[in-house]
Amino acid sequence: MSKTYIIANWKMNLMPKEAILQAKNIAKEYKSLKGKKDLELVICPSFTEIAAIAKILQPTGVFLGSQDVFWEEKGSYTSSISANTLKEYGCKYVIIGHSERRKLLNESNESINLKIKAALKAGLIPILCIGETFTERQAGQKESVLFDQVLNGLKDIWLKKGDSLLIAYEPVWVIGSGQAVDPDEAEITQAAIKRSLLEFMPAGVVADNIFVLYGGSVNGMNVKSFLSKPSIDGVLVGGASIDIEKFKPIINYK
Ligand code: PGA
Repeated sequence: MSKTYIIANWKMNLMPKEAILQAKNIAKEYKSLKGKKDLELVICPSFTEIAAIAKILQPTGVFLGSQDVFWEEKGSYTSSISANTLKEYGCKYVIIGHSERRKLLNESNESINLKIKAALKAGLIPILCIGETFTERQAGQKESVLFDQVLNGLKDIWLKKGDSLLIAYEPVWVIGSGQAVDPDEAEITQAAIKRSLLEFMPAGVVADNIFVLYGGSVNGMNVKSFLSKPSIDGVLVGGASIDIEKFKPIINYK
């Protein structure tokens, strides 16, 4: 059975006590959910809350992810967190290359590629974020930007049997705007992303190991219109995942 991914990206929005409460609320909501066998629900808090939230989620079936990782395993890399550390704290997923990091911290496709390799080596599932800016879209560069991010982000990466990789297509200009893209456009783009992968990865790997999500102003009202599209395997949710009343209808999208 194919899974539907719902990933909560809390960014830097919650104070520690708020994050703990939200994790408990989400776990409670998940527990009462019926027909959830095909749902993979993941919470990505700040690094500082990972240990505490791991304890809350551990018996629940809700999974933990981080919002970033560093590519080296150990050493003099002040402030960095390794993939092995995240794994040891109970993370299953890691978001890599979010547009906010690409823009504000100059994260490049090259460093993103190193992070994906490090995550896979440690047994974490990378969530590679890609997306075009409004200017790039207006200039007709959407496809080439996305292809470049996929090709260079996944350069020299060979997924083994059992490895998974998620790609979140997030048009930069709709993130946090309250206005998602048209689900039909997202579906066409997601299908194009899957086709672009076939240019450098075996078809079996693309079909079995790679899943493509949509992100950008997903909410309780529009979530179903995205998740009902055949090429959309899940959603990455920012703003609507930090408030339980807004997140409940997303988890209950069926
Ligand atoms: P948003 O954020 O849902 O608030 O638009 C999504 C994201 O940046 O991952």
